[in-house]
Amino acid sequence: MNLEELCEVASTCVKCPLHESRTKVVFGEGSKNAKIMLVGEAPGKKEDETGRPFIGMAGRILSEIIEEAGMDRSDIYITSIVKCRPENNRKPKKLEYTTCIDLYLNKQIELIDPDIVGLLGNSAAYALIGKKNIKQIHGNTYKLNGRKYMALFHPAAALYSRVLLPQLKKDMVILKKAIEK
Ligand code: URA
Repeated sequence: MNLEELCEVASTCVKCPLHESRTKVVFGEGSKNAKIMLVGEAPGKKEDETGRPFIGMAGRILSEIIEEAGMDRSDIYITSIVKCRPENNRKPKKLEYTTCIDLYLNKQIELIDPDIVGLLGNSAAYALIGKKNIKQIHGNTYKLNGRKYMALFHPAAALYSRVLLPQLKKDMVILKKAIEK
């Protein structure tokens, strides 16, 4: 199955309770040949309405940081650990993210085969590499099952705490350098 076919399957997914409250499935977007994949937590209101990842306030910060690091957002593939919005923006539950990762995210990573996967925030870092405490692990790279990961703050955290913004910017530069090696 290719990425388009997988997206088609996901668009009518009812494999976890999140489908009940979603408007649109937010599968992901960006280059199929991306060297960097960024994985967030879950779609928010704007994303749910449009079906596009990171287009709200956090998305604006993310785009700004990507550009400041000297990259083009369209060269990166951006998605989240769950593709449907949890009601009231609550955190996705274990059953929801394990189901979604198993059905979609792992296959997206396999198909795109990026050099590195940037994990945005605690939820993505815990779900994919089992690491807690983003404050301690951000900026670090990890190798798991032959795949390289790096943890970064979630752009929404940088939105609420401006001290994290410079840190997130620095980490995005580290992420860029990791693919230049
Ligand atoms: N936050 C996320 O983690 N993912 C999105 O798609 C939007 C906001």
